[in-house]
Amino acid sequence: MTFAVAAEMYDRFVGRYSDALGRALAEQAGLSPGMRVLDVGAGTGKLMGVLAETLGEDCITAVDPSEPFVAALGERFPAADVRRGTAEGLPFEDGSFDVVFAQLVVNFLTDPERGAAEMRRVTRDGGVVAAAVWDYRGEMTMLTTFWEAAGAIDERGAATRDERTRMRFGEPEEVVELWRGAGLHDVQGGAIVVSASYENFNDLWEPFLAGVGPAGDFAVSLEPDAQAALRDEYRRRLGSPDGAFELQARAWYAIGTK
Ligand SMILES: C[S@@+](CC[C@H](N)C(=O)[O-])C[C@H]1O[C@@H](n2cnc3c(N)ncnc32)[C@H](O)[C@@H]1O
Repeated sequence: MTFAVAAEMYDRFVGRYSDALGRALAEQAGLSPGMRVLDVGAGTGKLMGVLAETLGEDCITAVDPSEPFVAALGERFPAADVRRGTAEGLPFEDGSFDVVFAQLVVNFLTDPERGAAEMRRVTRDGGVVAAAVWDYRGEMTMLTTFWEAAGAIDERGAATRDERTRMRFGEPEEVVELWRGAGLHDVQGGAIVVSASYENFNDLWEPFLAGVGPAGDFAVSLEPDAQAALRDEYRRRLGSPDGAFELQARAWYAIGTK
């Protein structure tokens, strides 16, 4: 489980992009006041923060299997209904929600088809299910450049965890197909591009050393010399930034109706 890490470290890792992504995804899903929503794989609550601005915390339900994340969600959103659980077995009645979100989650599911079926089941007729997954093979700069650097210093080791080749749903049509296969209709897909700011290269690098996600998991598995070489190669491939910089990230989204 690569998400059994402190919520603050995830926030500094991919979480840095998640609220901008959540804002765009919520807009695509047609969020409006009074709706009941479920955030599947809510992580540290970046999307929940966006949802709470429109709906209020008490209209939000969240599920995640990570113990530290669920603890953080309980503290951050005391009026929301937060449960520890998985997408593959959602603990809710059929038709409980107007909108169900899975932001940056379907690629981590043990059984994505079952997870998609469960998300459809708990959505009311006419409600929508929305997902987003990073463009791992293209323009998620923070991760794609990391894996390029990892491959350059330890090709065989990196290949065992490289998200560019190992993640399903990295192609734009894949989540659309998952949603259609789950029986959702009028499925729309597209790209969302967001960016994140860093104070300096260390600001980007430190959260990898907390072992967050497959990339962090790989970074901490290395011996100190190899880890230092990876750090240097990653920095070089990002243009050797000295001070503050920004990175862009593209996600593919899919939204379907029950
Ligand atoms: C990359 S994080 C995304 C978190 C958050 N949605 C965001 O946008 O920042 C992936 C999340 O999926 C969760 N996850 C992993 N396996 C899961 C499963 N089977 N069911 C639901 N969530 C899962 C992880 O615990 C983690 O919080």
